[in-house]
Amino acid sequence: MKATTAKPLAVMRASPLRGRVRLPGDKSISHRALIFGALATGTTRIRGLLEAEDVVNTARAVSALGARAEKHGDVWEVRGRGPGGLRQPTAPLDFGNSGTGARLMMGVIAGHPITVQMMGDASLSRRPMRRVLGPLMQMGLEVVEPGKETLPLTLRGTSELIPIVYPLPVPSAQVKSAVLLAGLHAAGETTVIEPEATRDHTERMLRHFGADVRIVDKEGGRAITVRGDAELSGRDILVPGDPSSAAFLVAAALIVPGSDVTIEGVLVNPTRTGLYTTLQEMGGDVTLLNEREEGGEPIADIRVRASELKGVRVPAERAPSMIDEYPVLAAISAFAKGPTQMDGLAELKVKESDRLQATATGLEVNGVTARIDGDSLIVEGKQRMKGGGRVATHLDHRIAMAFLTAGLASEKPIAVDDTTMIATSFPEFRGLMETLGATYQEAPEQ
Ligand code: S3P
Repeated sequence: MKATTAKPLAVMRASPLRGRVRLPGDKSISHRALIFGALATGTTRIRGLLEAEDVVNTARAVSALGARAEKHGDVWEVRGRGPGGLRQPTAPLDFGNSGTGARLMMGVIAGHPITVQMMGDASLSRRPMRRVLGPLMQMGLEVVEPGKETLPLTLRGTSELIPIVYPLPVPSAQVKSAVLLAGLHAAGETTVIEPEATRDHTERMLRHFGADVRIVDKEGGRAITVRGDAELSGRDILVPGDPSSAAFLVAAALIVPGSDVTIEGVLVNPTRTGLYTTLQEMGGDVTLLNEREEGGEPIADIRVRASELKGVRVPAERAPSMIDEYPVLAAISAFAKGPTQMDGLAELKVKESDRLQATATGLEVNGVTARIDGDSLIVEGKQRMKGGGRVATHLDHRIAMAFLTAGLASEKPIAVDDTTMIATSFPEFRGLMETLGATYQEAPEQ
């Protein structure tokens, strides 16, 4: 764990944002490409991998487990060791800020007869791991420190995992993926049942790597089954642009009058596009152009023009398809006419920070009335934001970026207390926003 000094930043009110940009690769797909590459036989070549801290930590972890991940020119190559072929690392694996990296790798470690120490930063060390450890322990994973449910943890896997049928108690793609990854190593068929659809990149990638996956829609949810004697073969992967990063640019273009921005090659997998549906319902001029498929995932160019927004009610069932986008949606809801109510946000409380609280507080310090009611967030839309506040980001990249976006159209500049965490998912954030016409200024430490 390295200590970093906070880097506060302020955002200035912007004149129209204009231009065409291409974004770095999707974070969820990047993690999975490295992990599946490590489990496959032969070499996996990945183009467009997101080179942000979270993903780099996963690359280091798979290398430490014996599946060398290295960049050659523009391409990341992973020398896979075949299912069950990873070896005991010689030092603890540090996942930094990344819940996805840590939780998916728990599923992988479960299926190997190795003992691994896992750690993370202060934010990750507070996040619940029981949701993943519970099913993995049913399959045979051992937690060396009995009863411990947060990082740092020592895990002992086994080559004799027991297959399970696991109904997901929380709508989490990370839990689903950890169990399916463990299932690849179990003796028989492992099934995860998800009552609400969550991002399906693991299922798509299992197929891409040649695993036998069955998906059946039943009453009570979707059942996803993998077989344990899986043979995965190294593949080529092209990672599309990250829609969760695109969200900040899209939101910015909507609220800064006169803006017209196109973002090329963004992932538009329906399990990830809830924000775009919501913005269209709010009256946002958001158009998907040139829809096509690349590497088994749908992508499109997204054109956004500044729009008069109106408040809407966002249904709870949409939450999994836009779970990472609520902070920025809430922030720009202040510019809409009328209240925006977002329901079903329980999972927001266990992200990199308690995002429900961090978002509401960030809005309040900038003169916006926001109310938490159970698992709902209600933001008063007055077609303006006063600004002038300093937002506490709590080691959360998306809280920082959400308010560095809202401040482009607030009356007074908005400052955030720390921008260092932005490097975990979107190191190019400031540079790309500046290309479109935004201005940021270093803010004093307090
Ligand atoms: C992710 C799943 C989501 C999301 C996270 C990435 C993934 O988390 O918030 O940023 O890649 O599987 P949960 O599975 O906890 O909902």
